[in-house]
Amino acid sequence: MTSIDAFKTPSSRSCLAIVLAAGEGTRMKSGKPKVLHQVANRSMVGHVLATLTKAGATSVAAVIGPDREDVAKEVQKNFPEARIFVQRDRLGTAHAVLSAREALEQSADDVIVAFGDTPLVLAETFAKLRAPLAQGAGVVAMGFEAKDPTGYGRFITSGDELLAIREHKDASEAEREITLCNGGLMAIRGDLALTLLDRVRNDNAKGEYYLTDIVEIARELGHRTAIAVVPEEEVHGVNDRAQLAAAERMIQDRLRHEAMAAGVTLVAPETVFFSHDTQLGQDVMVEPHVVFGPGVFVEAGAVVHSFSHLEGTRIASGAGVGPFARLRPGASIGPKAKVGNFVEIKNTELGAGAKVSHLTYLGDATIGAEANIGAGTITCNYDGFGKHRTQIGEGAFIGSNSALVAPITIGKGAFVGSGSVITDDIPDNALGLGRGRQIVKEGWALEFRAKALAAKKK
Ligand code: UD1
Ligand code: CA
Repeated sequence: MTSIDAFKTPSSRSCLAIVLAAGEGTRMKSGKPKVLHQVANRSMVGHVLATLTKAGATSVAAVIGPDREDVAKEVQKNFPEARIFVQRDRLGTAHAVLSAREALEQSADDVIVAFGDTPLVLAETFAKLRAPLAQGAGVVAMGFEAKDPTGYGRFITSGDELLAIREHKDASEAEREITLCNGGLMAIRGDLALTLLDRVRNDNAKGEYYLTDIVEIARELGHRTAIAVVPEEEVHGVNDRAQLAAAERMIQDRLRHEAMAAGVTLVAPETVFFSHDTQLGQDVMVEPHVVFGPGVFVEAGAVVHSFSHLEGTRIASGAGVGPFARLRPGASIGPKAKVGNFVEIKNTELGAGAKVSHLTYLGDATIGAEANIGAGTITCNYDGFGKHRTQIGEGAFIGSNSALVAPITIGKGAFVGSGSVITDDIPDNALGLGRGRQIVKEGWALEFRAKALAAKKK
């Protein structure tokens, strides 16, 4: 084994990534194939493909189970030129790789085998795995020091040579003592791959065609093998819901560290949940207990207060949202705007400095700069058939507890009296009132009490 860090993979080498995703995921007890389960709002196979792209894969072959159009679709969403191969019978990891024979025949410089259910591998690691190939190694295996090696393939080494990988079920008592285990992922020299794979047999404890056998085969044919050692966390595979939750925990930890490293304050990082695509500017401050769904972009210096839930939202510089804000897809919060507690906003642009401080629903609306939306304002945007827009001009003032029945336009600087139901447009700087007129009866309460008392005495 040679020290791998010394090598650089020339980026000019072509690289075919074969992603194994034919597992049924029985232990997930799910109607959905395993690799489509999500961590940080992206399918596991989506993570693997994104990482492979970052690591310089030039082509992708995904091996999926029969009748899994859903998996094929997800693969192509994440790597549009990916070729899909179906593995009809699950006869082992080498058999799975060979399902992509046509892709292998095109003989890329490097071949990487990745698992669709192992989403935490970093792009640098794939690069590290490839590197020895450029220096003439035939096969590189990814190893880790296992806390509990039970179930994993063991690395049989001599000095720093990797001689073979022994699957747990086939290992002797002595071999089972080995803690340097196989992470499963491999890099293979492209012009060798088919020669090695075609020699794999299934005379082992499981009666499967093991990918791991290509290590011994490569050595028999006189090729060099190498090991890339990675932290155990990276090769964490997901077979059940508890392992899925563990993967989520690890990926959230990474995302929290990345956010803080980029200059974001997380008061209690362990209580903030990110999406793989969350983007936060410098000096953004996130209070405890906030959930970021997909597609959130927060500009520098904005504050997200506790217990807020955001998705598909843009928040501009200096704005503040929450506590208890719910921002749904299409919410765009302008610079220095304020969204307070128990406010839900969907598909709505809130202008600079506008305020929506409490208890409000804004859907399908455009709110001008510096407008003030009173507590309890509701845009009635849906009539059971279609969605309609509400336009509120700059500097308008919407009195508390008003229902704005869309489609409706409220002019710049206009006022809406509290408790109004507004069904007609209001011009600039006008007052709109839509409520019953108040009447006052002097002395009425005295008369009422006297009558009521007399009736009781009878
Ligand atoms: C594999 C390795 C083992 C390693 C472990 C790490 C082999 C023979 N063994 O074992 O050394 O320690 O990973 O987790 O490679 N798959 C298919 N089609 C098949 C078989 C598998 O697509 O016919 C896919 C699975 O869905 C999974 C991956 O390949 O994503 C690995 O297969 P799995 O059966 O989990 O291998 P392990 O027994 O865990
Ligand atoms: Ca496994």
